[in-house]
Amino acid sequence: MQGPYFPEGERGVFHTDARQSPTLPSRYYHDPQIHQRELENIFHKSWCYVGHESQLPDPGDYQVDKIADQCIFLVRGQDSEIRAFFNVCQHRGHELLKDKGSRKKHVVCPYHAWTYGLDGKLIQAPHTEQLLDFDPAQFSLKPVAVASCAGLLFANLDATAVEFEQDYPDLAQTFSLHFPNFDRFGTAFQLDYDIAANWKVVVDNFSEGYHIPVAHKKLSQVLDSGTGKCARLEKRFAFFETRSKAGFEGLELEPGTPYLSWTLWPNTCMLSLPGCENLFVIRMATNGPGRCLERIDLLSVNGEVSPPLEALKTLFTDQFNAEDIAIVQSVQRGLESLAYDQGRYVADNTDSWYSESGLHRFHQLILESLSD
Ligand code: FES
Ligand SMILES: [Fe+2]
Repeated sequence: MQGPYFPEGERGVFHTDARQSPTLPSRYYHDPQIHQRELENIFHKSWCYVGHESQLPDPGDYQVDKIADQCIFLVRGQDSEIRAFFNVCQHRGHELLKDKGSRKKHVVCPYHAWTYGLDGKLIQAPHTEQLLDFDPAQFSLKPVAVASCAGLLFANLDATAVEFEQDYPDLAQTFSLHFPNFDRFGTAFQLDYDIAANWKVVVDNFSEGYHIPVAHKKLSQVLDSGTGKCARLEKRFAFFETRSKAGFEGLELEPGTPYLSWTLWPNTCMLSLPGCENLFVIRMATNGPGRCLERIDLLSVNGEVSPPLEALKTLFTDQFNAEDIAIVQSVQRGLESLAYDQGRYVADNTDSWYSESGLHRFHQLILESLSD
C-alpha cells in the first residue's frame, strides 16, 4: 500500500520521526486548494463536536450548526432521539431552520411550505397532487450521523462513516473516571470567538505544552507542568493528566489536583481545569483558509455557576484564551510571511509535557487524510 504524501519545503521533507522532521510547510495554512481538500477529506468525513445533549432537553428542541462549509441542524424527536440533518429543503434548496428553538412539531420550509417530520420524512408538499412519478418518500431530508459520547454530541456528514466508538475507543471512560457527576453535566457558558487564523494553527497551539510557561504566566501559577503525562494515546484522540500547584487568590487549590486535557481529531480540544467539576469543550470550525470560529461550551454539574467555576471562566477568557488568540493570530501572519516556510518540531524520546510530538502526530494525520 502506498503511504501518505509527505510534502517538501525549504528545510526538507516531512518525516515520520518528529525529532527528525521539519514542520508542515506554511502553504498548508493559507493555500485555498489545500483548504478545499481539507473540507472534502477531513470535515466531510470526520466526527466533529456539535454540542451537549443538555442543550436539547425536550422533544422539538433544535439547533442549527455548521460543520466547515456545510449547514446542518440537530433536533430531538418526539421519541426523544437526537437526530441531525443537512439544513436544506429537498424542493429547491432553501435553508430550513435558523439559530435554535424549541417545541418544533414539524420543520416547515419558509419558501413553499414543504413540511418534514422531526424524523426527516416529507409529510406535506402543497399542490403536488398532479405531479407524475412523485414519491414523497424519495424526498426525505438528508441525514447526518450523530453519536453521543456520555452526553457530548458528535456529528459526521459521511453516512458511511465508521462508528464513533471505533474512532475514539473508550473516550467516555476518560470522563466517567474523573467526573463522578458527568451524567448531570450541563452548559454553564457558551462562548464564541472569530479568529484570524487557520483552524490548524489553533489546534496546533492546543497540542503542545511547550509554550505554557512562556506565554501563560497566570496559568503557570495553576499548572505544575513537570507533572504532565499522556494517559491515553489513540490514533484519533489523546488524553493528558497534569497536576495543579496552589493556584492564586480567588482560585486557591490543593496542590496535586488534576488538570486534564484531551485532543480529538480533527478539531476538538477539551480541558478540565482544577477547582471544581468542569469541562471546557473547544472546537475550531474552519471558516476559510485564514479564519476560524472557536466555540467553547463550558460544562459543569447541572450547568451551575459556582464561585470556582466563575474564577476558572475568568482565568480562561481573560488570560489563557486571550493570550492564545493573540499568539495564533501572530503565527498566522508569520505563516504568510515570505520569510517563513518551515521550522522544527521540538520533540523528545519520552513524549514529555514539553514535547511537540502531539503536534507532529496531528500533522501526520492531516497529511494521511489529504493523501486519501
Ligand atoms: S425550497 Fe423548500 S419548499 Fe420550496
Ligand atoms: Fe496556550
